[in-house]
Amino acid sequence: MQLVFLGAPGVGKGTQADKVSVQYGVVKISTGDLLREAVRNRTTLGLEAKSYMDQGKLVPDSVVIGLVRDKLADPGYAKGFILDGFPRTVPQAEALAGVLDERRVRLDRVINFQVPRTEIVKRLSGRRSCPKCQATYHVKFAPSKKGILCDRCDEALVQRSDDQPEAIETRLKVYEEQTAPLINYYAAKNMLSHLDSAGSVDSVYDNLTKVLAPYRSA
Ligand code: AP5
Repeated sequence: MQLVFLGAPGVGKGTQADKVSVQYGVVKISTGDLLREAVRNRTTLGLEAKSYMDQGKLVPDSVVIGLVRDKLADPGYAKGFILDGFPRTVPQAEALAGVLDERRVRLDRVINFQVPRTEIVKRLSGRRSCPKCQATYHVKFAPSKKGILCDRCDEALVQRSDDQPEAIETRLKVYEEQTAPLINYYAAKNMLSHLDSAGSVDSVYDNLTKVLAPYRSA
C-alpha cells in the first residue's frame, strides 16, 4: 500500500501515520522527522534546513526531494509506505511521480486530512515530543502518563521550536500558499480522498481504515 498523507500542519498526519504503519506493516516516511534527525546530528543538510524549519518555512525542494529519493531506494520499502508531509509543493509532487515511475511503483491514494484552523492551533500549541524516541504527546488531548516525562523512555518532553505562535502562523500561511494547491493537483488525477480529522484520534483512525480498505491487499 503506497499512500501520501496531505494536510495542514497539526492536523494529525503523523499520529495517524504511526498507527497505520504499525497496523498495516508499512513504513512511515516523514520528511519532518528526517529533517529533524539531520538537525540533531548537525549534518550539513541539517544545518541548512534548521533556519527554514525554525521560521516555519519550507526547506528547498531540491533538499527534500533528494531525501525522499534516497529513502525510496531502500528495499525495506517494498511492502509499502506512507509519505507523511511530502510532497508539499507541486514540484515535489512531480518529482515524486517521476521517482515512482522509475521504480514502477503505483501511488494508491492521497489522503487529505481536514481540521478547522482553531483546532489546529490548539493541537500544535499543546504538542510535546520526546527528544530521545520522538514519541508525540499533547498536554490535553494525549498527555504522557508520566507528566512531563516520556512514557516510553522517561526523557523530559520538549516543545518543538516551530510550535511557537509566530512559527505556527507562518506554517499555516505557507501551507495555504504552497501546499494547498496539491489538493486540486491530486483531485484532478482522481487520487484524492478527504478525511474529516476533527474528532478523537481513535475516531479519525476508524474513518481512515474505511477509506483505506480497498487498498489494503492491493
Ligand atoms: P513536519 O514535521 O512535517 O510538520 P507539519 O506538516 O507542520 O506537521 P506536524 O508534524 O506539525 O503535524 P501533524 O499533522 O503530523 O500532526 P501530529 O500528528 O504531530 O515539518 C516540519 C518542518 O520541516 C516544516 O515546517 C518544513 O520546514 C520542513 N519540511 C518537512 N517536510 C517538508 C517538505 N516536504 N518540503 C519542505 N519542507 C519540509 O499532531 C499534532 C498534535 O495534535 C499532537 O500533539 C497530537 O498528539 C495531537 N493530535 C493528533 N491527532 C489528534 C486528534 N485527533 N485529536 C486531538 N489531538 C490530536
